[in-house]
Amino acid sequence: MKFYILTLFPEMVMQGLSTSIIGRATEKGILSIEAINIRDYTADKHKKVDDYPYGGGAGMVMQAQPIYDAWLSVVERVGHHVRTVYLTPQGRTFSQSDAKDFAGEENLILLCGHYEGVDERVLEEIVTDYVSIGDYVLTGGELPAMVMVDAISRMVPGVLSNKVSGETESFEDGLLEYPQYSRPEEWKGKKVPAIILSGDHGKVDAWRHEQSLLRTRDRRPDLLEKASLTQKDREFLEKHQ
Ligand code: ADE
Repeated sequence: MKFYILTLFPEMVMQGLSTSIIGRATEKGILSIEAINIRDYTADKHKKVDDYPYGGGAGMVMQAQPIYDAWLSVVERVGHHVRTVYLTPQGRTFSQSDAKDFAGEENLILLCGHYEGVDERVLEEIVTDYVSIGDYVLTGGELPAMVMVDAISRMVPGVLSNKVSGETESFEDGLLEYPQYSRPEEWKGKKVPAIILSGDHGKVDAWRHEQSLLRTRDRRPDLLEKASLTQKDREFLEKHQ
């Protein structure tokens, strides 16, 4: 999958996405991440990319021309229509199912805004999806773009090992993950639950599922309402108030 990130701060996004799992997948050629500097496409002789808002108001607005030309350079290279995301608090909230959906694209353009906003006309012209990463306002779209690239990438086949990829399915079931433990068996007087050490996989799986149920009810009751619970799950929760 190829990501094209249109930004005024290419170093920021490339640095953030060059390590760990995403960095490794890029090195292996499973992913390609390219940051395109919008400033390189300005027709202004002083390399300006923003101007005062018509009608007045605080701050500056990113102009249409450099963004459009940067976007067009990608679309022309790809040779056809490319889904184009504008990161904005005004978008729909990004979710795991969106990550899975975007992971089906071969190419994806992410437009990072800055300052007070972007000239509406270029958004109308190029944007297919308005996406927010949550109800708070950041200084720019770079961190949200990095969040999206990370979450989408781990849904691209081959980025995670087969063993881990199933974990996402459990979140998609609508439940939070169970607690995890590693060595030592006792730390600061706290023991790993005996059932985990029992070696009985059936019991371990059942215990983990129960922990997922309890944890989801405790921390994210909103998710529990949407989760598909069995009669046995309901009875278990009923018994463990
Ligand atoms: N740009 C600024 N804040 C944002 C947010 N919460 N989500 C996406 N893009 C943004």
